Amino acid sequence: MTQDELKVMVAKAALDYIPKQGVLGVGSGSTVVKFIEQIGLNEIKVEGAVSSSNKTTALLRERGINVLDPNSVPGYDVYIDGADEVDPHFNMIKGGGACLTREKILTSMAKKFVLIVDKSKLVDTLGKFPLPVEVIPMAREQVIRTLKKLTGGDPVLREGCITDNGCEIVDVRGLSITDPVKLEDEINAIPGVVTVGLFARRGADVILYATEEGVKTLKRPQ
Ligand code: 5RP
Repeated sequence: MTQDELKVMVAKAALDYIPKQGVLGVGSGSTVVKFIEQIGLNEIKVEGAVSSSNKTTALLRERGINVLDPNSVPGYDVYIDGADEVDPHFNMIKGGGACLTREKILTSMAKKFVLIVDKSKLVDTLGKFPLPVEVIPMAREQVIRTLKKLTGGDPVLREGCITDNGCEIVDVRGLSITDPVKLEDEINAIPGVVTVGLFARRGADVILYATEEGVKTLKRPQ
């Protein structure tokens, strides 16, 4: 089974989590693209959505889904998104698609975060995937120096990448993240950092992961 087939499988499974009424939060990335396709193919009704990227917004609108300004939404029930890595404590690295800031905003507004991944994204310790950090362009070099000292990793500008917020991405390579909450707080406190792609303070609530044997579900202990 290819990774693409696994993504379709988990995208289909996520349809069950779409609330019958109210707003749905929609993330970004190739797995989410499959999820949006499945919404269309299965003619699932979505009353309204908040979106984490311009690309997601366009795809939702193509399917006739009303995309709302998050400022007009006081909160909502379910956010569905992918990740680059997820650990056994439901912490994640996100931002491979450079949408981490809007993803984190929508995550913070949702009652439930349903993560959709294929099994290749499950890791014991976060950090093999380079950790994305969105930065204000004028602060980039200072942020890179600070990240090097703080993490001991190798921060590198993602060439040619401008986010939907007009900012840049620095990817920190060579990490092994043993305390994700602490690192999230420390990186977020660096002047010029917009958001770090560590989702630990607010991790996933449900993980749906696709395997050759089918989609498995993990629920965060309450
Ligand atoms: C985008 C993200 C994506 O969720 C993450 O990169 C996973 O993408 P994919 O489903 O393509 O593997 O965080 O900013």
